[in-house]
Amino acid sequence: MIDRPLAGIPASELAREYGTPLIVYDLDELDLAVDALARAFIARGITVAYAAKAFLCTGLVEVLAATPLWLDVCSLGELRTAERGGFPPGRIYFHGCGKSDEELAAIVAGRVAFGVVDNAEELARLAAIARPETPTPIVLRVNTGIEAHTHEYIRTAGDRTKFGIALADLPAILDRIAAEPALRLIGLHAHIGSQIAEIEPYRASLALLIEQADRARERGLPIELLIAGGGMGVEETPGAAPPLAYDALAETLLAARAGSSYRLAIEPGRAVIARAGTSLYRVMAIKLQGGRRFAIVDGGMADNPRPALYGASHALEVMTSAATAAPREAVLCGRSCENDVLGSVTIPTDMRAGDLVALRTTGAYTYSMASNYNRFGKPAVVFARDGSHRLAIRRETADDTLRNDIG
Ligand code: LLP
Repeated sequence: MIDRPLAGIPASELAREYGTPLIVYDLDELDLAVDALARAFIARGITVAYAAKAFLCTGLVEVLAATPLWLDVCSLGELRTAERGGFPPGRIYFHGCGKSDEELAAIVAGRVAFGVVDNAEELARLAAIARPETPTPIVLRVNTGIEAHTHEYIRTAGDRTKFGIALADLPAILDRIAAEPALRLIGLHAHIGSQIAEIEPYRASLALLIEQADRARERGLPIELLIAGGGMGVEETPGAAPPLAYDALAETLLAARAGSSYRLAIEPGRAVIARAGTSLYRVMAIKLQGGRRFAIVDGGMADNPRPALYGASHALEVMTSAATAAPREAVLCGRSCENDVLGSVTIPTDMRAGDLVALRTTGAYTYSMASNYNRFGKPAVVFARDGSHRLAIRRETADDTLRNDIG
């Protein structure tokens, strides 16, 4: 009988204490990720902000508040979480391409260091509520037209994504800001994609930002900060080589900035949190159908929609099992009422219902994108460090899934 450890704790112990499906965050892994980013970027004077959309809860905010990271939030929910966890407002900024009135008011009220403005309409709405006595600091999100993909980068006319202000529209927007005493433009921003494995698109995008920032300064706008976005790729299998070398990226950004005085920042989500997370499931049934073997687990696309949405693949580990037979291919499925495939896996042919399996590297965009599909409650989230563990988010019960119902 195997009983493999997760974050140094037997998987059977975690399952017994918290139930499954369960997302376990190894805070020692998180420390390693933060240290690696700090060594490569912060030590070179480049600010690192964590993109909260990858995963956020009050407990994580408490952990991150004690690191040098900033926090990028994009909703009132993320901001409230940051506030409850005691994150310093001076290290938070507000993103998003469709901010509500309440969110704009939070920026003006100084609940964050600055807001990142995505479009002309938002600029006008912000200007209408900002006060000239205490100008609201803003950063403009620019669509540099550089789009990154894992294996290529293409320069577009900027018309393929909804985000940011097109380069062609920037001069008019800068004029508008220059004439607006209630707003103070302190920086430019560009985010070019996610799970990026190449450095060149970052360089190309930053070079364009610098060009635009120089022009803005000529107009008298006090730009001092350039945010080069997030998107640094993460390996799917623990221990594999990271797809992007941080030192090389940092040096490239610094070289692109050489000769100017702009402060630089990056805002990774996945690179901070993905590696720390593992999803633990219990096998519910194993069946042979049409010559294929299916293993059905007690979670699936409701708690991890990434395989269904993006074809994402996560390394599987058998955590507890008495199986001894040779491994063969199987389809790992969730329990949602559709073709809920979590991945093609190789597991012993004598694995049984009741065995525990883990999907690795599920720390980013897994819990944060989980839903109540089929009225499943969201899983519990546990933080582990140094062999000890504690609940960070409690499991949703069936009653929780109807808490907002009226009738
Ligand atoms: N900054 C901005 C403005 C962003 O939109 C994002 C991610 C980030 C930073 C952080 O990107 P990261 O370093 O985590 O790649 N749900 C998808 C990923 C969507 C990313 C959206 N924006 C997934 O599960 O792969």
